[in-house]
Amino acid sequence: MSEQHVALVTGAASGIGLAAAEALAASGRLVALADVNCEAGEAAAKRLGGSFFRADLSTRAGCKALTDSVLDKYGRCDILVNNAGIQHVSPIEDFPEEKWDFIISLMLTAPFLLTKYLWPGMKKNRWGRVININSVHGLRASEFKAAYVTAKHGLTGLTKTAALEGGPHGITVNSICPAYVRTPLVDGQIDAQAETHGIDREEVISDIMLKKAAIKRMIEPSEVGDLVVYLCSASAVCITGTMLTIDCGWTAN
Ligand SMILES: NC(=O)c1ccc[n+]([C@@H]2O[C@H](COP(=O)([O-])OP(=O)(O)OC[C@H]3O[C@@H](n4cnc5c(N)ncnc54)[C@H](O)[C@@H]3O)[C@@H](O)[C@H]2O)c1
Repeated sequence: MSEQHVALVTGAASGIGLAAAEALAASGRLVALADVNCEAGEAAAKRLGGSFFRADLSTRAGCKALTDSVLDKYGRCDILVNNAGIQHVSPIEDFPEEKWDFIISLMLTAPFLLTKYLWPGMKKNRWGRVININSVHGLRASEFKAAYVTAKHGLTGLTKTAALEGGPHGITVNSICPAYVRTPLVDGQIDAQAETHGIDREEVISDIMLKKAAIKRMIEPSEVGDLVVYLCSASAVCITGTMLTIDCGWTAN
């Protein structure tokens, strides 16, 4: 890299976002970490020699303020990792409407807005990488996850469209689609699924989460972080518009 690239990672205080920020920092990028969790986000930014930005990405104003702050501080943003997300498990008939709105805003509208706001700078530099932390649920559905599955399928569409528009400008746009990764989000899901299905935690892991997997184990966050760095490498310059699975064979079914 002639100039040090700046990478913005959302939801970077925990789980996959934190692992992506760690991997990007270890590979020489300047990292900007965004999250609502200030304590963990600030500690991680300090450890990684980056900066922390408090941002609630469920609002349009929060997305705009974040990109303005990053561009003010660094004058550029070369890599965007859209990662912040939550899960809510509930049958459609009981699905809280405000949860639907929140999930769509945070996990579909925010990636669109952040991409839109950072796009002109990437275009000007003729280089950009947008990496959407999608999910196997961007490719397949599961019951009781209506908002999550819908947001992730939408993210698949955004990834493809942005890839087509970015190609002529040196911008690649890809999704990473993991199955179950060992993070706090999944830990919460185990409890929620246990309650919804009326079974215990061990049964949720073996009978639901790993049932369709060829490799019977959870994915580690660092394994997703390594894939993020790969997509930013020179070897990945021709990879765009893809939904790259890291799913222990889950979608081979
Ligand atoms: N863990 C998995 O098995 C798995 C599998 C596939 C996809 N994913 C995706 O990976 C992404 C990260 O998930 P994770 O498992 O690391 O979860 P996590 O709960 O460990 O981390 C999510 C982060 O997002 C932040 N966040 C929540 N609401 C926010 C808001 N309004 N504004 C800004 N930040 C906010 C949280 O504070 C947290 O730090 C999500 O998009 C998720 O859908 C996770």
